[in-house]
Amino acid sequence: MDVSAAVRQRSSVRSYKAMDVEEDKLKKILEAARFSPSASNRQEWKFIVVKNKETKRKLAKAAFGQSFIGEAPVVIVACGTESKSFMACGQPTHTVDVSIACAYMILQAYELGLGTCWIGAFKEDETKKILNIPDHVRVVAMTPLGYPDQPPSQKFRKSLNQIVCFEKYE
Ligand SMILES: Cc1cc2nc3c(=O)[nH]c(=O)nc-3n(C[C@H](O)[C@H](O)[C@H](O)COP(=O)(O)O)c2cc1C
Repeated sequence: MDVSAAVRQRSSVRSYKAMDVEEDKLKKILEAARFSPSASNRQEWKFIVVKNKETKRKLAKAAFGQSFIGEAPVVIVACGTESKSFMACGQPTHTVDVSIACAYMILQAYELGLGTCWIGAFKEDETKKILNIPDHVRVVAMTPLGYPDQPPSQKFRKSLNQIVCFEKYE
């Protein structure tokens, strides 16, 4: 599969088969994060792989009861390990770096036939308590990971001319 196909065809998965994710596939997905770019190549991130049923159930609760999170065989919780630095443009470095890594993982997962769903709606404090994450570390996102048990959903996207302009902001 080429990148363009993965970008166009991937969609969020909110229902998963009760089927484990093979270790070699999981490793390939984590490697996608490892190879993703980061500001000054600092790689200030940590990805927590959760398979324990009870821990996943707690994470789903911390994510405002999005129960499908607990039903996936794996949940990856993506953290920024240095959250005080901002880029010259004013954006927080860790949020951008970790988000890029997550995007890479999501596309790699799709190529391997696995589903994901970016989760941004979660209580960070509760998530940190569940996973023993230190105070200075920030949780940027999490995603369930597993074999989809749903057909691909339709994509609703703005047209290019709604989101692109040339030379000046319009
Ligand atoms: C930053 C961010 C936060 C999101 N948070 C959630 C979430 O908490 N729960 C959820 O079910 N989907 C969440 N999503 C998934 C979006 O709803 C989804 O990507 C969007 O509707 C487009 O659909 P698609 O992923 O199928 O293309 C999130 C996506 C992003 C990028």
